[in-house]
Amino acid sequence: MDKFILSLDEGTTSARAIIFDRESNVHGVGQYEFPQHYPKPGWVEHNPEEIWEAQLRAIKTAIDRAKIEPSQIAGIGITNQRETTLVWDREGKPLYNAIVWQCRRTAEMVEEIKREYGAMIKKKTGLVPDAYFSASKLKWLLDNVPGLRGKAERGEVLFGTVDTFLIYRLTGKHVTDYSNASRTMLFNIRKLEWDGELLELFDIPESVLPEVRESSEVYGYTKREILGAEIPVSGDAGDQQAALFGQAAFETGMVKATYGTGSFILANTGKMVRYSENLLTTIAWGLRGRVSYALEGSVFVTGAAVQWLRDGIKIIQHASETEELATKLESNEGVYFVPAFVGLGAPYWDQFARGLIIGITRGTGREHLARATLEAIAYLTRDVVEEMEKLVQIKDLRVDGGVTANDFLMQFQADILNRKVIRPVVKETTALGAAYLAGLAIGYWESLEEIKDLWKAEKVFEPRMDEETRERLYRGWKEAVKRAMGWARV
Ligand code: G3P
Repeated sequence: MDKFILSLDEGTTSARAIIFDRESNVHGVGQYEFPQHYPKPGWVEHNPEEIWEAQLRAIKTAIDRAKIEPSQIAGIGITNQRETTLVWDREGKPLYNAIVWQCRRTAEMVEEIKREYGAMIKKKTGLVPDAYFSASKLKWLLDNVPGLRGKAERGEVLFGTVDTFLIYRLTGKHVTDYSNASRTMLFNIRKLEWDGELLELFDIPESVLPEVRESSEVYGYTKREILGAEIPVSGDAGDQQAALFGQAAFETGMVKATYGTGSFILANTGKMVRYSENLLTTIAWGLRGRVSYALEGSVFVTGAAVQWLRDGIKIIQHASETEELATKLESNEGVYFVPAFVGLGAPYWDQFARGLIIGITRGTGREHLARATLEAIAYLTRDVVEEMEKLVQIKDLRVDGGVTANDFLMQFQADILNRKVIRPVVKETTALGAAYLAGLAIGYWESLEEIKDLWKAEKVFEPRMDEETRERLYRGWKEAVKRAMGWARV
């Protein structure tokens, strides 16, 4: 009987499950959204039970649609929204809601810590101290959930990101992988261990921490009562790192951009830990005794700007209309849109920047706004790629995520980067990355070479803009960004 790999992609808004075969064809997909909870302004939580239910339903739907038996699943790979922080007891019962990566409740706490310890934290973890990462969220839980710290000190509390929670529920093992550990701001990315000094700084008892393992190895087997079979769970990586893997970006200098609500651009830096002032240094994966590192630029709002055109100012009904509107114009006609709705992430890191549309004339219409929105997504990516280039030689850009279906944007991206932009055949790059990691651990796939051969380009966008135009447009963007920065403080 044919064997398959099941990949679980537990994201910020939905849980997905995808069944792949050896040629990386998709046989079945299940996807369910779960509720977002906003108990206070700026706070974001998920109910772990709701995540679990959505994930289980997604698994069952994917298996049904693929028309296979659970016993045909050779291995399970897990990939997840990163940084989101959970605590549960030894029975697997959540002790509070998950605090989501977007949640800002610990921003002030981190500001204070950053002043004194920022440089030390960056050196050890590769991260720019921010409420984004798990450390301050876990401290908040231990300090604010009644009785939690006492329980933790008695060894009754387990902490983890979503991967760890799912693996615990599926197999009973309390583990995570290097890529997820590197987003907690408690993990020393050079020594590859939980860092005593950071644990002390955030007042975290060591007993709550999961064991950190490679991204591709058997962590445990699914309990029979869950799927009716004992299946090895053998791959685990944070979603952005999994996407880098799914793009077969195994060599130093290979870069991928995933365009979702925001964009995450990662460059493989191989065994070198590279530090950039404005980008994050992170672990890409641990595989076969070796750890690979990456530089990451996180851009908060890209696809969300297209959503805003649709749901906010309602000038389009479907995201896909932007392409048709944008191509009605020969150029942007001087109109720029900086979608700094929640400040600006990499490489600007300005919490006080706000959205701006500039260059409006009497002739400006919705086609200008559509075009300026798509162009902004490309400029924001160039901003990050330029930072990366200071440290690593970059070849071309492999892309995935919703808006990559937009050919106008992809061509403009190639033009503005002056680099090839390559869109792969299999668009489910994140889930595929986790599947590859799971499959490699159990011999379903033998080698990285084999996986490299499976990766195929669907379309290559060649740069064709002349240098003068490219640089003039980009200068305009930089000027617009300057004017958007600090606006909330004016
Ligand atoms: O760092 C956050 C990132 O992992 C979230 O990804 O795709 O769930 O929004 P996504």
